[in-house]
Amino acid sequence: MSNPIDGSNLRAGVVGLGWAGQQHMKGYHLASGVDLVGLAGLETDHLQRLGDEYGVEHRYAEWADLFAGTQLDVVSVCTPPSLHAPIAIAALEAGINVLSEKPMALDSVSARAMVDAAKANGRILEVSFNHRRKAEVSAAKDLIDRGLLGKIYYAKAGWMRHSGIPGLGSWFTRKATAGGGPMMDIGVHMLDMALYLMGEPDVAAVSASTYAEFGPRGRGGSNWGITTKTGGDGTQTYEVEDLATAFVRMTNGGTLLLESSWAQGVGHDDMYVTLFGTEGGAELTWNPPGPQIKAWTQVEGVDATLQPRLGPNGGHTEAVADFVSAVRAGELAGHQGDEALTRALIVDAAYRSADDSAEIRVEPRSGEGSQTH
Ligand SMILES: NC(=O)c1ccc[n+]([C@@H]2O[C@H](COP(=O)([O-])OP(=O)(O)OC[C@H]3O[C@@H](n4cnc5c(N)ncnc54)[C@H](O)[C@@H]3O)[C@@H](O)[C@H]2O)c1
Repeated sequence: MSNPIDGSNLRAGVVGLGWAGQQHMKGYHLASGVDLVGLAGLETDHLQRLGDEYGVEHRYAEWADLFAGTQLDVVSVCTPPSLHAPIAIAALEAGINVLSEKPMALDSVSARAMVDAAKANGRILEVSFNHRRKAEVSAAKDLIDRGLLGKIYYAKAGWMRHSGIPGLGSWFTRKATAGGGPMMDIGVHMLDMALYLMGEPDVAAVSASTYAEFGPRGRGGSNWGITTKTGGDGTQTYEVEDLATAFVRMTNGGTLLLESSWAQGVGHDDMYVTLFGTEGGAELTWNPPGPQIKAWTQVEGVDATLQPRLGPNGGHTEAVADFVSAVRAGELAGHQGDEALTRALIVDAAYRSADDSAEIRVEPRSGEGSQTH
């Protein structure tokens, strides 16, 4: 691989040509000091169109051929989750730094193997949690960092869609390719935002339930993605949950209530994070008519309602830019997938809790979940 700190441009590749892959392509295109030199994906027409659009020299159907045929410094993995770990580990072992799409992997065992590969090979591994970069989240983080909300001891976070099953019958609704339903797909974004704003507390235990009331009956499909998502066989196979609820206990006594759904009898889609702190609270919502943040605190003994001024919205472009800067700086600490692994351990514990109807203890060091008594 070329030396990331010698000033030469980084050579980037993207595996996966769907919506997610295209966000990463745009990110590399906009990042300074990066050349997007390789693409891989199974859709020949998209491969040629996107390859032409971004002037990409090396184009392959299969990801393994991309790694064999092209020298890369960084790669984004934007395939169905079942391929995240195999592709990321192969890349890391070949000395390539990895930015993976969420969810990190099918389960925490594969996620841990990705972290191990990053550490064994001295490479960077990041997972793209782009929603954390929303302007409202940055504003809430700023209030928290300034002490205006005190210590956050309780949070609620959720993303509830009325009819938002992405691609009924595609890889999204199959256990073997997706690993799970909305908790893996959109719940992880809310979990990520909540943990980030709560200050990354250590997680002690998870209690959860899952339901599949609409998907198996062919109801709740979204208007987007039905024909473009890969892995479908023309049937509406539905093997994952369509609603998940979880209660997460932290070792510091804090708690988090998390809900995520692709299909629900709700009036409108609902996306929110609510924070309760020792000095105040905040409500962040991304619902019609538009995103909002409100906070309540006391200023010099007087109750105050705050509507923080918002900075720019971030997303995939910023996730790619930060990944590129970490690679260029050779900044391994904090950039080898540990935070994302924590999220994978919580999701695993939630699914296990739902299966066993029991609270599951989370033990990040061993990676083993065990029932609480
Ligand atoms: N962060 C976000 O906001 C966000 C949004 C959408 C999707 N995602 C995530 O991004 C990932 C991809 O989602 P999508 O909606 O773009 O899916 P998609 O089905 O539209 O695209 C998947 C791509 O993977 C490619 N692929 C599959 N097998 C391959 C192989 N063997 N070699 C090379 N390429 C292969 C397919 O050809 C396709 O181009 C998922 O993990 C999803 O959860 C994240």
